[in-house]
Amino acid sequence: ALIRLRDYRAPAWRVETVELDFDLGIEATELSARLLLRRDPAQQLPLQLDGENLQLLSIALDGVQLPATAYRYAGNVLEVDGARDGSVLETRVRLRPAANTALEGLYLSGSDEAGFLLTQCEAEGFRHITFFPDRPDVLSCYRVTLRADRARFPVLLAGGNPDGSGELEGGRHWACFVDPHPKPSYLFALVAGRLEKIERNYVTANGRTVQLKIWAEADAIDRCHYAMDALERSMRWDERTYGRNYDLDVFHVVATHDFNMGAMENKGLNIFNAKCLLADPDSTTDEEYRHVEAVVAHEYFHNWSGNRVTCRDWFQLSLKEGLTVFREQSFSADMNSAPLKRIEDVSLLRRAQFPEDAGPLAHPVRPAQYSEINNFYTATVYEKGSELVRMLAGALGQAGFRRGMDLYFERHDGHAATLEDFLGALGDANGTDLTPYLAWYGQAGTPRLKARGHYDAARQEYTLTLAQPAPGKGTAEPRPPLPIPVKLALFDREGTMLPLRLDGQTSEPASEIVVVLTQTEQHFVFGHVASSPVPSLLRGFSAPVILECDYTPDELALLLGHDPDGFNRWEAGQQLAVRAYEELRDGAANSHALDVWRAALASLFHDTAIDDALLADLLTPPGEIELAERETAVDPQRIHQLRQRLQWVLAERLGGEVLHRRYRELAAHTTIDMDAISQARRRLKRRVLELLNLLDSASAGELAAAQYHDAPGMTDRLAALTVLLRGDAPQAALALLDFRARYADNALALDKWFAVQAQVPGERALDGVLMLERDPGFTLKNPNRVQALLGAFVRGNPSGFHRIDGAGYRLLAERLVALDALNPQVAARLATAFNGWQRLESQRRDAAHAAIVTLAARTGLSRNLAEIIGGVLNH
Ligand code: ARG
Ligand code: ZN
Repeated sequence: ALIRLRDYRAPAWRVETVELDFDLGIEATELSARLLLRRDPAQQLPLQLDGENLQLLSIALDGVQLPATAYRYAGNVLEVDGARDGSVLETRVRLRPAANTALEGLYLSGSDEAGFLLTQCEAEGFRHITFFPDRPDVLSCYRVTLRADRARFPVLLAGGNPDGSGELEGGRHWACFVDPHPKPSYLFALVAGRLEKIERNYVTANGRTVQLKIWAEADAIDRCHYAMDALERSMRWDERTYGRNYDLDVFHVVATHDFNMGAMENKGLNIFNAKCLLADPDSTTDEEYRHVEAVVAHEYFHNWSGNRVTCRDWFQLSLKEGLTVFREQSFSADMNSAPLKRIEDVSLLRRAQFPEDAGPLAHPVRPAQYSEINNFYTATVYEKGSELVRMLAGALGQAGFRRGMDLYFERHDGHAATLEDFLGALGDANGTDLTPYLAWYGQAGTPRLKARGHYDAARQEYTLTLAQPAPGKGTAEPRPPLPIPVKLALFDREGTMLPLRLDGQTSEPASEIVVVLTQTEQHFVFGHVASSPVPSLLRGFSAPVILECDYTPDELALLLGHDPDGFNRWEAGQQLAVRAYEELRDGAANSHALDVWRAALASLFHDTAIDDALLADLLTPPGEIELAERETAVDPQRIHQLRQRLQWVLAERLGGEVLHRRYRELAAHTTIDMDAISQARRRLKRRVLELLNLLDSASAGELAAAQYHDAPGMTDRLAALTVLLRGDAPQAALALLDFRARYADNALALDKWFAVQAQVPGERALDGVLMLERDPGFTLKNPNRVQALLGAFVRGNPSGFHRIDGAGYRLLAERLVALDALNPQVAARLATAFNGWQRLESQRRDAAHAAIVTLAARTGLSRNLAEIIGGVLNH
């Protein structure tokens, strides 16, 4: 059954207050719920509550036990007769947390003996806990009482402020929490078990003292300090940047190894996948440190963008997720290097979102329909959604955006809002109409932007023509043109930026301006341009589009050498690398782009002014997935080989001697410090070692073995291990054994051991995966482990997964069946690896199709997996 945006109706029944009483146990938990009901007088509908396969023990309305004839329940919806406005409904149900392998609702993390209980309710998990109108536009005040055996569950937590605790008979105890802020059911959470904590007091800008407490199992608590610092930085940043203060007396954060997603912003009780919270130098890479900081910030920022102002319905998911990703990205840019962060974010967009938007699972940032909402926590809703907010912020400018956000929070605080509300507040606060941007939210697909320049020497005029071709196939209705902001600068042929002034404009010339394309095609004329310029377009990636501009290789090299916009400098290098790649691919007689590319990088390699991390990124051509996006009959193994060849050509040009010397210099400065310079050195050192490995894998193997052995932390250790495995070095086997033993009790580090092997390129990876499945550490029950082995294989290893014999596709289809029986959310996410099958070359396409069709024919697939498989087949 499809749920459609256009069918939205306000709730017929609301819940003013809810009191929940839990008697917690691993095998069985019982809970009573007491709901104070409010009826919408305009809708005379019977009381219907969501409840997913609940074991109903008792039910009473206004204090009277109901006979079986007074209600109906067949496993999804409870319908109750006789409820009035102001009625109180009381239900008691029994749950089976230990048997809950879907990790949705109330479940057990870890073992029966040592594990703890927790909940995950977004999007529709609350209906797995109790009967309720489980939709985000029903906001209620929660009072939660937890009761449990004290020895087994010493820590009892729920959202809101603590409101008493005490002893009970028989070694049991209780704790109560009251949340003064009305919230939707998806933000409910509880945690109970043996957990340790670290804590810190925090005083908000408006003077509230908040106890920050981070909870984890005993063996992980020492790895929570970095997250605590990141939390404090996030809180300060939101105060300074958006004037947002925290609003409860406590803020709890909990780490679990069993979690379907990254983390969850439950009010006052954020719950994190351990991989997004725990960090220490021995088991965490630099990238992962930055990820922890970003996710801690993301969940914290949700307290305003998501919790205080929530979503009217799940079609508006990007209202909170796109906005919060944007806030998180801005925070990370402020905490670290802004251009590097932008490169990282755009790379992710191109690797994850562009392919999604180009395939059969493409959907608008605000989807029009869904069958299973959990399938829409996608790169489109999150990452593209963030790009849309970035465009709005850019259109308003820093002060204007802040004004708009202030009005948005003020107007909608305590309410469930829509994307129209958001654009309305931003526009109203600035006396401008942003509704043309709504079009971005309603259409799928990555728009193309065509740019072409014309220089008129006689008139000293430069005309830039921008066009957005009407989106092609598959679009039923004509689409309005999108507003596309294009930030740009012009360079002369020496690489100097030219002062810019649009024809007819009177303002002072600027070195950078933004023009907004609002029509299908427009001309922008710049006067007083002394010589034929090179345009730097879409600076900072000012709109999420695919830019098509026929630069010459030399023009790209000029931008790569001179553009002060770090992002566009990198981008010029990426474009140039693509041209070089295409010359190799097509066996072109002329290798001009290739020559220009490697010469430009060779000169940057010796440029002492350039940041080590940026240099590492400049030396990295677009990834295999990005390259595949540009082709029609995709052969992932050939793409892999060509990309290797491209990098070999670069390594060759740089020269073994030079690379060796640089490696030794960088290695001499190896530290375990986390400052930007140390991180940048590690990144470049890895890149140099990878390039060396292509030239001479024997000597790179020696260096990698030594680096593995001496590594002071995970970044260097994992980089060395990766290189050893790629080069097939004899030392690889020993290092693998060492790593396995060293991290036998560290799940997050062990995940990397699985992933690094699953990502060995080429045909042999599949046998490796089959062997690793037999490792005692492997289980389909843990989402992180599934992601580490199967996810890394099907998503992170195109040349391994896309075997021409189709064995990769059959393996995925088989594992999906087993996984779906345990955890439909994780199965559905893994299944999206089939997304691009239609664009594969014919032999692989047929093999993939056969595997998908066989899978689709299975009976009893979950709604989650069925929707993805159906979508992939274009049903
Ligand atoms: N709201 C969470 C976040 O910040 C994501 C939770 C999604 N969980 C799910 N099962 N769909 O990103
Ligand atoms: Zn989020």
